[in-house]
Amino acid sequence: MVKIEMVTFNNGNQAPIIGLGTWKSKANEVIEAVKNAIDVGYRHIDCSPVYDNEKEIGEALNSKFKEGIIKREDVFITSKLWCTEHSPNLVEPALKKTLSDLRLEYLDLYLIHWPMAFQEGKESFPTDANGKYLGSDVDYVDTWKAMEKLVEDGLAKNIGVSNFNSKQVERILKICKIKPVVNQVECHPYLPQVKLSEFCKSKGIIITAYSPFGSPDRSWAKPDDPQPLKDERIKKIADTYNKSVAQVIIRYQIQRGHIAIPKSVSKTRMQENLKVFDFELSEDDIKEIHTFDKKMRACAMSMAVDNEHYPFHEEF
Ligand SMILES: NC(=O)c1ccc[n+]([C@@H]2O[C@H](COP(=O)([O-])OP(=O)(O)OC[C@H]3O[C@@H](n4cnc5c(N)ncnc54)[C@H](OP(=O)(O)O)[C@@H]3O)[C@@H](O)[C@H]2O)c1
Repeated sequence: MVKIEMVTFNNGNQAPIIGLGTWKSKANEVIEAVKNAIDVGYRHIDCSPVYDNEKEIGEALNSKFKEGIIKREDVFITSKLWCTEHSPNLVEPALKKTLSDLRLEYLDLYLIHWPMAFQEGKESFPTDANGKYLGSDVDYVDTWKAMEKLVEDGLAKNIGVSNFNSKQVERILKICKIKPVVNQVECHPYLPQVKLSEFCKSKGIIITAYSPFGSPDRSWAKPDDPQPLKDERIKKIADTYNKSVAQVIIRYQIQRGHIAIPKSVSKTRMQENLKVFDFELSEDDIKEIHTFDKKMRACAMSMAVDNEHYPFHEEF
């Protein structure tokens, strides 16, 4: 089995540098996918209640614990606080619901999924009668203080943020007692995030690269949207190492010190995505891939573009 390298957070805790993404993995396929992932060596799973499959992931994990293949402390489980639950009084109940669905006593990492808050209630993407998105003015700085309490109470070992721009990270750093360990952001050859990566590194925060392949299976993808996996220039680089385009794309992340969380429900592709520790891209390859930037965002969350905490108006 492939030995997966670890990253070390600013608090000394560690996480496997590759994790399995689970967004869009359907309830009927994710149980098998997570079991297969554990069998082929994954020890890090990226979840969120908004992916609507945490119960199934909990079932898969539980069956691997029962089989004795892994113990709780062998796996690193991430989940996220959804935008409708940013009010400080909702943070702990939200985490407890996720823990109950995942059948766990604690999370390894809990992230604020987005800096913007949405109107509270049952709808994950609340809109009014005219279809206009309904935001809320909870400030993520207040949410962060409630996140810190989860660590103090032993419910989350580490906390972090997701989709935060550099100014938003800076605001958290100014008020925090516990520093975020991670900023999970979209990152791939068409959105290399060079400046945000350098900024986060200078603050001791690790980037987790989500949608490392540009999320080709997102429901709103158009046939002509660019796809990193089909990029002939990356194929050329991959051929020189006798590797696949997918492997070069993952290597491009981990060699920069980023965690990568490719999603797959195929055992073969999951295995392929782990075979990235036996070659090294040259500095020139990495620099060349940086130039493929198209500022493409698969996850722009455009509905919330008018929210005062919408992150993508800033350059980085
Ligand atoms: N924090 C956030 O706001 C946020 C946003 C987006 C995503 N995420 C996280 O990041 C994870 C990954 O991002 P993503 O799901 O958007 O997309 P992605 O990982 O960029 O791409 C997934 C797609 O690539 C295919 N694939 C996987 N391995 C492959 C390989 N070796 N060769 C060819 N195709 C391959 C998958 O198909 P198969 O499944 O059929 O293999 C699937 O269609 C998510 O699942 C989620 O956990 C977080």
